[in-house]
Amino acid sequence: MQKTTISQVSKYVEQEVKIGAWIANKRSSGKIQFLQLRDGTGFIQGVVVKSEVSEETWEAARSLTQESSLYVIGTVRKDDRAPSGYELTVNEVQVLQIAQDYPITPKEHGTEFLMDHRHLWLRSSRQNAILRIRNEIIKATYEFFNEEGFIKVDPPILTGSSAEGTTDLFHTEYFDRDAYLSQSGQLYMEAAALAFGKVFSFGPTFRAEKSKTRRHLIEFWMIEPEMAFVEHEESLEIQEQYVSYIAQSVLNNCKMELKVLDRDVSKLENIKAPFPRITYDDAIQLLKNKGFDDIEWGEDFGAPHETAIAESFDKPVFITHYPTNIKAFYMKPDPDREDVVLCADLIAPEGYGEIIGGSQRIDDLELLQQRYNEHQLTDPAYEWYLELRKYGSVPHSGFGLGLERTVAWLCGIEHVRETIPFPRLLNRLYP
Ligand code: 4AD
Ligand code: MG
Repeated sequence: MQKTTISQVSKYVEQEVKIGAWIANKRSSGKIQFLQLRDGTGFIQGVVVKSEVSEETWEAARSLTQESSLYVIGTVRKDDRAPSGYELTVNEVQVLQIAQDYPITPKEHGTEFLMDHRHLWLRSSRQNAILRIRNEIIKATYEFFNEEGFIKVDPPILTGSSAEGTTDLFHTEYFDRDAYLSQSGQLYMEAAALAFGKVFSFGPTFRAEKSKTRRHLIEFWMIEPEMAFVEHEESLEIQEQYVSYIAQSVLNNCKMELKVLDRDVSKLENIKAPFPRITYDDAIQLLKNKGFDDIEWGEDFGAPHETAIAESFDKPVFITHYPTNIKAFYMKPDPDREDVVLCADLIAPEGYGEIIGGSQRIDDLELLQQRYNEHQLTDPAYEWYLELRKYGSVPHSGFGLGLERTVAWLCGIEHVRETIPFPRLLNRLYP
């Protein structure tokens, strides 16, 4: 008899298999018990017919409660009515543990209750689908960048200074010195790009932001590619190809998961490069036309602005050339216009907001030094960063894609808190 998983049962039609599983739910109609089995790879219905099993197996099946664990031995049947296309005729049940009073029942629970039980909530079909799509995006990310000749480089998480400015930093002690949790690996990735050409990182980043929105996490995962000899426009082309690649991978490889989430896939089929581009100047005009009368040139966009801009397009849209003074110190000014920088934020459709922030970097030593002074950044940790402009400086660009916002968008779910196994939110460090 073959030991297998629910995802693999199609290989064993009309054969007997053994599966380690949990009871997601159970129904009974006198002489038949229907076990809704889950094993992490999928869900399948197990049918126990009283007249066809031993008394022992019938009683064992009767004793099973929600989230009890078991080995189930049964024969795989093809069944077109079943959501997975298969059913299991149960021959034997080996109980591992009878679970008592599992707190998450099929009834409606409030979000706070579910978040308090996140360690168990992960078992639900919805959470399973979301985190499998997250995994698919991670897999597609490695495929895409490896295929494009990037190598993965891992920047440090404990740093002596800030990458994105001095606020929103998590402070910690580093023996007798101060240290901070990384907000972005970018500065290190720039060093790596000058060593390896094209690099990408994938790791956790931390922002001590007091934001309590559906798009903000305190700890989130970022993919940060950095490319030597790549200028602004070429960087946008890589970004749109990358985002198209992950969207198409999810569409092709996560059909079941998208169905569980009731995702309107027609909205994703369209996500193919090229993506539209709009300058910050034109975005301001567009917003004014849409009735945002009080937005002024020089102000940053909030979530409602981003949503209004995205509504004009059916694909992600790049907003380019933001004013210099609302963007980070390292962004390269447009040579034709000093008051804007060669940068772009990629705004996802359907109100999901900014999923990528990126730019061409300043490669001129003097200008970078001047920016340091303007931003009053005197940290000695920056010395090494300035040296990158001293020894073989080249034009280079990079960007950061926020994984959780991308998962939320592709899944079509309301809040980023469900897109990471154990979210860290303003008021939540448990479980
Ligand atoms: O725009 P950000 O702050 O850019 C950087 O950190 C650059 N250093 C990246 C680079 O050029 N290498 O962040 C990049 C992305 C955002 O577009 C967003 O998707 C995500 O990271 N992000 C967050 N996601 C969840 N919660 C938060 N608090 C986030 N802050 C940023
Ligand atoms: Mg940004």
